[in-house]
Amino acid sequence: MKNKILVTGGTGYIGSHTTVELIGEGFEVAIIDNLYNSEAGVVDRIELITGVRPSLAVFDLTDHEKLYDYFADHNDISGIIHFAAYKAVGESVHKPLEYYRNNLVSLMNLLDAMRTREIPNFVFSSSCTVYGQPEKLPVAEDAAVKPATSPYGNTKQIGEEIIRDTIGASENLNAISLRYFNPIGAHPSALIGELPRGVPENLVPFITQTAYGLRKELKVFGNDYDTPDGSCVRDYLHVVDLAKAHVTAVRRLLEKKNKAAYEVFNLGTGKGVTVLEAIESFERVSGISLNYKIAGRREGDIEKIWADPSLANRELGWKTESSLDEAMRTAWEWEKAIRKSQ
Ligand code: WQD
Repeated sequence: MKNKILVTGGTGYIGSHTTVELIGEGFEVAIIDNLYNSEAGVVDRIELITGVRPSLAVFDLTDHEKLYDYFADHNDISGIIHFAAYKAVGESVHKPLEYYRNNLVSLMNLLDAMRTREIPNFVFSSSCTVYGQPEKLPVAEDAAVKPATSPYGNTKQIGEEIIRDTIGASENLNAISLRYFNPIGAHPSALIGELPRGVPENLVPFITQTAYGLRKELKVFGNDYDTPDGSCVRDYLHVVDLAKAHVTAVRRLLEKKNKAAYEVFNLGTGKGVTVLEAIESFERVSGISLNYKIAGRREGDIEKIWADPSLANRELGWKTESSLDEAMRTAWEWEKAIRKSQ
């Protein structure tokens, strides 16, 4: 009998890549998604890649009734991987209430349903944003969580605390929070990737859209930081590597190999890359000279962060396999594929 995993936000960027990896590892996948930032057609592409079609229920996780009824019809779920959330840092500053309500009510409804339906395993999509600007680099899981610099980041911090306290108050619930660094790239099939909605906030979609001619130029937000070339440093990991970590995390819980009821893991390469180095990587793999200019710093940006991934390496038996160039290449192939299909 296949283990059935509920993936919330499973038609989204990281959710769809994780669904592909789960199916590849023999799991059955059920998706709940409100399609706020994605589209149902992603399920067709997941089926094209894997030959298996995950179920898709389209509703909002803030609807407690709907979620309760859903679990009545799906009483064979052995674990939940929770991606569904609003995730645009900039937007969250202008719409704090929408972010708190959506991200936290969804989470609490899910945890409530888990308790009632006795679903014991929960994997949470968290973010390195909880660390703010770490004092010490690379940053490990025991580093101080800093006051959030955006409502989005705060929903991740509060979300982790809600999970920790709910697990602590329960006998049989187990959870893992995965703190992502910067996911980039797309599935090698170029059938799934980050769906572009409006002007991208993130670096890599802005690079590929500029290269494709959809944006006039890329602005590099600052080159006066205390870094090798003055531009900000981040830890960019391939989204497929990130997806694989979710499979190992949910399997750890299913096999009861977790060493505590609640665990936290950093998911990164362990290597810092500057914005200018990321641009060089893109130019190398695409053969395109990117049109960019140095602009002023972006409000809210931290200077430099990269992961100490040794806990995930050791405990999850997971580490990133793709290079920056390989990730960039898949990002570029995806950009070209979606533009051709439009
Ligand atoms: C990366 C670097 C920018 C755009 C955010 C969230 C994080 C996660 C990933 C959701 C920075 C620079 C960017 C541009 C630029 N999101 N940049 N020109 O800000 O590190 O992380 O997205 O989970 O939680 O905080 O990612 O891709 O926006 O920026 O120079 O047009 O690229 O200054 O140094 P960020 P990013």
